[in-house]
Amino acid sequence: MLLDTHASEIETILGRYASRRSAVLPLLYLAQDTYGHLNDAAIREVAAILDLPATDVFEVVGFYTLFYNRPVGTWVLQVCDDVPCCYLGAEELVAALKQSLGIQEEQTTPDGMFTLQRVKCLAACDRAPVLQANLDYVYDVTAERVEALLTHLRERAAEARKRGVSGRFAEDYAFGADGRPLRLEREAPYTPRVFTPVPPPPEPAPMAPPEAGTEAESGERRVSPL
Ligand code: FES
Repeated sequence: MLLDTHASEIETILGRYASRRSAVLPLLYLAQDTYGHLNDAAIREVAAILDLPATDVFEVVGFYTLFYNRPVGTWVLQVCDDVPCCYLGAEELVAALKQSLGIQEEQTTPDGMFTLQRVKCLAACDRAPVLQANLDYVYDVTAERVEALLTHLRERAAEARKRGVSGRFAEDYAFGADGRPLRLEREAPYTPRVFTPVPPPPEPAPMAPPEAGTEAESGERRVSPL
């Protein structure tokens, strides 16, 4: 349970906002990085912490592409397929990734290393085609650079698992003269955060259907004898 493992962090997050419901995004990121994805029980757990109807939190998870309501790979590859990236080879990039990974979009490789998705503009159109690997931006990714990129990401898998799948402490990469991805220096680099992964909370058992002849099953309202 998040309240057992991250009580003081949750208190700090809640303290930043005048209203508890405003903390829904940071708490969902915390849950996702801790559990690896947001199953129904994890979403309900966040709703309970915030005193929100569970439906409100399910809606948030369903709206944002950076929340994953099913297991994903160590690296979630989100390829921008908006117009500028498409003009410069995004479709060829998606095809090369599918071919190399042996998966289709929205699938995860059998070894759990990569999940492939399409997204809309990542706001880096001047360096198209662009993809994000757990929010690490990778610029100028042509189909020819796919193998070098995948090798680079496999080498960084242990680091990615520690940072959490949300990748909120992301970096920027471009390709160097040797064809390998190269981390770009930032004026204000992120400080990596280390998460200790735990399994997501178990889903509650499904409700049993009403028994034949009961009020719920027949739809008839029974009169109280009192
Ligand atoms: S269109 Fe791909 S980053 Fe904007």
